[in-house]
Order: sequence, then C-alpha cells, then structure tokens
Amino acid sequence: MTIQTIPTQPFNDQRPGTSGLRKKVSVFQQPHYLENFVQAVFDVLPDRAGQTLVLGGDGRFHNRAAVHTILRMAAANGFGKVLVGRKGLLSTPALSAVIRKHGCFGGIILSASHNPGGPDGDFGIKYNIANGGPAPEKVTEAIFARTRVIDEYRILSAETTIDLDTLGIQTLGDMVLEVIDPVADYAELMEQLFDFDAIRAWFAAGGRMRFDAMNAVGGPYAHALLEGQLGAPAGTVINGEPLEDFGGHHPDPNPAHATELIALMSGQHAADFGAASDGDADRNMILGRHFIVTPSDSLAILAANATRIPAFRDGLRGIARSMPTSCAADAVAAALGIPCHETPTGWKFFGNLLDAGKVSLCGEESYGTGSDHIREKDGLWAVLFWLNLLAVSGQSVAALVRAHWARFGRHYYSRHDWEGIPSAQADALMAALRAQLPTLGGRDCGAGLCIEQADDFAYNDPVDGSLSTRQGVRLIFTNGSRIIFRLSGTGTEGATLRVYLERFEPDSRQHELPAQQALAELIRIAEDIAAIRAHCGMQAPSVIT
Ligand code: G6P
Ligand code: ZN
Repeated sequence: MTIQTIPTQPFNDQRPGTSGLRKKVSVFQQPHYLENFVQAVFDVLPDRAGQTLVLGGDGRFHNRAAVHTILRMAAANGFGKVLVGRKGLLSTPALSAVIRKHGCFGGIILSASHNPGGPDGDFGIKYNIANGGPAPEKVTEAIFARTRVIDEYRILSAETTIDLDTLGIQTLGDMVLEVIDPVADYAELMEQLFDFDAIRAWFAAGGRMRFDAMNAVGGPYAHALLEGQLGAPAGTVINGEPLEDFGGHHPDPNPAHATELIALMSGQHAADFGAASDGDADRNMILGRHFIVTPSDSLAILAANATRIPAFRDGLRGIARSMPTSCAADAVAAALGIPCHETPTGWKFFGNLLDAGKVSLCGEESYGTGSDHIREKDGLWAVLFWLNLLAVSGQSVAALVRAHWARFGRHYYSRHDWEGIPSAQADALMAALRAQLPTLGGRDCGAGLCIEQADDFAYNDPVDGSLSTRQGVRLIFTNGSRIIFRLSGTGTEGATLRVYLERFEPDSRQHELPAQQALAELIRIAEDIAAIRAHCGMQAPSVIT
C-alpha cells in the first residue's frame, strides 16, 4: 500500500454554492474531478494530521465510488481516523450529530439534497466543520481558491479492499476506519429531545401517520424511530428503501414533488399526520388530514409551542429565519419577547447564531427546520416535534394551525419557481430589477399595495461581523406584504428564479382563502415589475409551492 501523488490540472467550476459543490454525476465522473475538490478541502485544513473525520452520503448514484476515493485520500492526507456510515450512508443531520457527539474535526457529506439522482442526475459534496455545520463562506471560498491552482493530489494506491458493510474497525494505511451504524447516535439524540412515551401513547391510541421517505436516506431513520422505537405500525413509512435514483423521482418534500403522499393525505382514508423528507433527510414537509402546512407556518407554530416539548421546557433564546421565509416567526418572537434574526438563504448562516447561543430554533421557506441540537436542518426532528405536539395537545394538525392563525394572524405565502432559464437571461432580469430599485420605493402598485422599501438584502453577521451582500431583491409594502426575487444557488441546469410572495392577514374571517387567490395581486405586481415573461421567455412558473 503506497501513497501516490497524482499530477492534476484545475477545473474552473468548483465553487461551492448555497450548499456545497453540486454538479451532474457525469461531471463528477471526469477523471480527477472529485479528487481535485477533496484535495482542495484537505489543503485548506492545515491542522488535519491525526484528526477524525466523518464521512457519509445519501446513497445516491456515485455515493459508494466517491466514499472509496475519499477514504483513500483521507488516509494519504494524514487523517488519524474516519467514521463512515455503514454502506456509505449518513443523513445530513445524522452526520452533524456524529461530528458533535464524538468531537470530530469535521465531516464530508455526499449529497445533492433534493435534486434527482441516478447516472443522469446530480451529485454533490459538502464539507462541515467541527461544530457539525456547513463550512462558512470564508472556508468555502478558500476551497474554491485552492481548486483554481491545484496541481496534485494524494491518494492511497487502490489495492486495499474497504468493507463498508460490516460494522467495526479496519485500517487503511496508517489510518483507522470505523464503520458505524448510521442511525444509532442520531436516534439516541432524538430520544433526549422529545417525549417518546407521549408519542408512543399517541400511536397506541390509534394515531395514524404516513411518512414518505421518498426512497432516500431518511428511510432507515424513519423505520428505526417511528416503526421501531415509537411503535408505529409497519407500513407507516412508505418508500423507505434508499435507492440510487430515488425511484426516478425528485426527492423533494413539497406538494409539487411528493405527489404520492399528497394524494394519500387528501383521500378518504387519509391518516392524521403526514410527513416527508428529502434526499439527505434534512428537509421536511408537514401535512394534516386534508391539510398542508407551509414551512414558514411550521417554524412559527413550533416556536409558539416550543415549551411543550422536553428540549425547550425552559423556553427559546431566539429564532432565526432566512430572509425569504415569511414573517410568521417574527410575530411569535415578538409575543415571546425574544429576538428574531433574518439571515440570507443557506443553513450555514445560522451556524454562528447557534454557536453563540443567540437562537434555539431556525427555519427556512425551503422546507428546512432545525434547532441548536445540531448544526444542520433536520427533517425527522421536525416531524418528531410535530408528533410530540399532536400527542401532548390531543389536537389535529389543522386545529393547531388554525388556532395559531387566530392568535397571530395568517401570513399567506407562496413561492413561484421559474426553472431552466438560460443564465444570461436570468442575470439580465436581476440586473434590471436592481437598476430599478432607486425608483421603486413609494410606488403605488394599485389594489392598496404601496411599496415602502425596495432594496437588495445584505446581512451583517452579528457574531463574526462578516458582510454578505446581494442576497435577494426585496419589495416590502406598507401593509407588510413582501415580494422577494432571487436566483437559486443550488440548481445545476441554467438558472432558477425564485419569487417569494407573502401577505399578512390579521382578520380570522379571511383565513380560509386558497393561497394563490389571496396572493393574486402580489403575483401580478411581481411578474410586472420584474418583466418575468419577457426576460425568461416562459409563460408560467414551473413549480408553485
Ligand atoms: C439548501 C440549503 C438551504 C437553502 C436551500 C434553497 O437546501 O441547505 O439552506 O434554503 O438549499 O437554496 P436555493 O439557493 O436553491 O434557493
Ligand atoms: Zn437536503
């Protein structure tokens, strides 16, 4: 077994996006492509010698091959130990939990999250730091800078066999490799946070649930926790077997992609509670019987009811939401007398706030919710939180949501995605919007909607003082309504324009409108001001959630 130094040349497209480096599988399959990126990660970690790394992925196509390569590179780059999930699997939240529990140096997650998988699908890689969270921008930028000049990488010669299927310790060169149960540490943590007895009693009393794991990595976790420890009947978890191509589906838990679950939960025999998680199990969707909960509402409702679960008996320190997420959480924070921080899109922006003890709960409109228990969003955690609330309140999902609206008002919310726009056209749209900003403040758009503030969101991190600019164009209206425009940072084909629409309605007699109807005027204004059809050459958004 020898350490080889392989000459290479830089690729110019290895800048990590909102959440790591994501590309088509075929891009990652190019000779040296993965290796260059991994070596760039290792190169920006000068104190890695002898340290312990965690490694795992969502099981998508190319996961196993990449795990083998990364293990051989870690051994050749002086790591002391790597903990790898059995079969190369670890959900994103479980990886974060493992880093924290075992005090590891960092971790590598192989996932393209909710993007489709398979040979023609997407693959991705992300580095997480010792707090268990995604590397901050200064690290990802340093990685990118390194990829631009890299000229060699180190890897152990290929003759060693690596067994990813048997739990326990092996050696790889001078490095120790431990194959761990991907579920155990995570399940232990969940048991500390929630009232498992109450949830068991809810299932025992006949509470019915459907959890759609979307043939992604959440399946083993949901089987073990829901049907195992919590006593839910077999069959509660559907699509629970991780598949390399997610069964050909888009493993994204939203009404547009989780169609099987939506159909089950709107049918005659709908369960009481429905939920789903995405490719790497960090996202969640929450449904009641014939009822869909928006992620922004979910965050606010969890915050308002936090003291009803064991983890938050003593209350919340603060809440954080990404800028495009609705202001429903702000209303709860105001009532609780705690701060609500507004950050750019990307879970990594919550890390500093969590580490500094400024917030306990975080959430994003993109179906992400989480807390200070780890440094990633956590799909199954959110589902267990809801289950715990159902169990201790004895109420249905819909009743909890309606009571919340009655108390705090309803923030109608929707996101319109215009996908697959040629990048140049999407950039032109955003540039034109930004150019208009100075003239938009004060504009009367009709229907009682007057723009109070028009800007490009910038975030000054209160913990490390870093400034992130150009994080999305905001139109904020005098009645609190908001329209936000930004380009997705996670796509791999062309550009996706996201238009976020929000309207506050305090009057409970107006709380049962279909969201698209309640937001119709804002939709018109958004499409008009941004001249979306003209720029994109499309007639309608491709996904509405
Ligand atoms: C990932 C990130 C989230 C982010 C989401 C949407 O899931 O972890 O933090 O909100 O992508 O990002 P995008 O740039 O595509 O809107
Ligand atoms: Zn994800």
